[in-house]
Amino acid sequence: MSENSTAPDAHAERDRTVPGPGPESGRGPGRDRGEPLFPGGPAADPAGSHHERRIRSFRPRRGRVTAGQGEALRRLWPQWGLDIDGLHRLDLGALFGDPDLPVVLEIGFGMGEATARMAAADPGTGILAVDVHTPGQGNLLALAERDGLSNVRVANGDAIILLREMLAPAALSGLRVYFPDPWPKKRHHKRRLLQPEFVELAATRLRPGALLHCATDWEPYAEQMLEVLTASPSFDNTQPDGGYSPRPDFRPLTKFESQGLDKGHIVHDLIFRRNDA
Ligand SMILES: C[S@@+](CC[C@H](N)C(=O)[O-])C[C@H]1O[C@@H](n2cnc3c(N)ncnc32)[C@H](O)[C@@H]1O
Repeated sequence: MSENSTAPDAHAERDRTVPGPGPESGRGPGRDRGEPLFPGGPAADPAGSHHERRIRSFRPRRGRVTAGQGEALRRLWPQWGLDIDGLHRLDLGALFGDPDLPVVLEIGFGMGEATARMAAADPGTGILAVDVHTPGQGNLLALAERDGLSNVRVANGDAIILLREMLAPAALSGLRVYFPDPWPKKRHHKRRLLQPEFVELAATRLRPGALLHCATDWEPYAEQMLEVLTASPSFDNTQPDGGYSPRPDFRPLTKFESQGLDKGHIVHDLIFRRNDA
């Protein structure tokens, strides 16, 4: 996300945080170098170099972690957290403690407020929420505990490795990508998540009939999403006219969305269905 900060209108300007450990980060004055910030919490680089991807849709960043978020990371990660190490196939039934629970993956949940609200509104669906943003991971864990959301699991690492290495074919009942980093500079467009290769990888992990729901306030990215998804043989647009979807009631306003709206941006939703192809 930080890469976009050079563009005055881009998302990263909205989320300025002081990187590195601070007084509330969990790193006390006596902490040794290399000692984990949150013992038992998310791993700094779970997939490690054995799954290093050259082009990433995110910039690794920690941001300032509040005392409450740090406490949630230490205490709740062992129970509800998942490090994306790319080393094993996930048993989603075991992860959620219910073999019959349909599971939806949300990529890039940010601070997780919208994730928590959608999970509360739909307890019959498991939400596997993935991001690399440490403060957001702590925030979502704290929200899940506060609201008694037993259907949320928080994953740490690159969603591409999760999809490619750890999820079985047709494992997912849905995929949500809300306000992915827009990477506005032309030379960074290759970092955008919604590319043909990503869409076809996602298709293999979605069961037929599953919905892929994207939203963005970045007009050129919306156009790219529509083009890529329309061209995909694996998905059909739920809109008969082949265009954007009306904003569905079930998607709450996200943090980045409200900041985009404040700037006069227009938000586009795209809802495509995995077909049998
Ligand atoms: C612009 S923010 C939007 C956050 C949230 N959905 C919202 O609307 O407030 C995009 C998020 O996606 C995350 N992200 C980008 N690429 C990712 C990837 N490959 N795996 C996991 N998270 C990713 C970033 O860390 C960032 O938190």
